[in-house]
Amino acid sequence: MTQHLLKMADLTKDEIIDLLNLADQLKYNQKHGIPHHLLEGKTLGMIFQKASTRTRVSFETGMYQLGGLAQFLSSRDLQMGRGEPVQDTARVLSRYLNGIMIRTFEQKEVEDLASYGCVPIINGLTDYAHPCQVLADLMTIREYKGAFDGLNFCYIGDGNNMCNSHIVGALTVGMKVSIACPEGYRPHPDVLKFAEKYGDMFRISDNVQEMAANADVLATDVWASMGQETEAADRRKAFQGFQINDSVMAAAKPGAMVLHCLPAHREEEITTKVFEAHANEIFDEAENRLHAQKAVMVKLMGPKDI
Ligand code: CP
Ligand code: NVA
Repeated sequence: MTQHLLKMADLTKDEIIDLLNLADQLKYNQKHGIPHHLLEGKTLGMIFQKASTRTRVSFETGMYQLGGLAQFLSSRDLQMGRGEPVQDTARVLSRYLNGIMIRTFEQKEVEDLASYGCVPIINGLTDYAHPCQVLADLMTIREYKGAFDGLNFCYIGDGNNMCNSHIVGALTVGMKVSIACPEGYRPHPDVLKFAEKYGDMFRISDNVQEMAANADVLATDVWASMGQETEAADRRKAFQGFQINDSVMAAAKPGAMVLHCLPAHREEEITTKVFEAHANEIFDEAENRLHAQKAVMVKLMGPKDI
């Protein structure tokens, strides 16, 4: 296991499977009241430069259940928010904490934190990647479908942080990936380059019906991400038709599951009808943030023999 979790490409297939197995075990322990204080006495700092419901609460609760302490560090209150360089922040926080989770804009800031600090860094979302979410999504897919090999994964919408991380995660674990997204809103070039290595396991097009055909798993995300609020009107036009709706579900395999990282914008990227029909999967996915992140924290900050 790498020292940090900065993006999905940091993980091999075996490492992902290992993390998901641990997440399943921790979920079982939590559901059955079996104590698992694997991070007794450890502290996690959580730096937030963007809003959050799930990430903040699941990390804080997860750390508590593991016997450790999580500290919420809003960038509004940190000296970082007044211009203290990330290099200095990293070196100071490394003296107090056993790990840092950061949610910010630029991926470079997360990479800098990792190179200047000397504790594990966890990416809690950047404009480029959302690895914690995709680990929870993979955990949920395995719960519902049993295994990854041979599954068709389809993502419809913006080539954003979620799309980037879905592509890398899904290909790494052995799923076929089809992406439907408009020209001009494609995934990051590094991710497209990564996907090239997988030959015909990967397809991308602006044809939603074609990409959704035969899908076992359908995923989508908001058309305008945090930080893109001023582009929202243009994006609403550009993404017309890039929606999970009845006709997409009809193209997918019968029994296909639907994932959404949340928050969702009903009637934009997903209809209310499809969202509610698949609410069990979507809220299991949200719950699995807790279990998957506990596994990440244990692997990065916990006893070496786990
Ligand atoms: N899915 C997700 O990361 O949610 P939050 O923005 O609420 O943390
Ligand atoms: N793409 C969304 C994901 C939110 C969890 C955003 O970055 O706002």
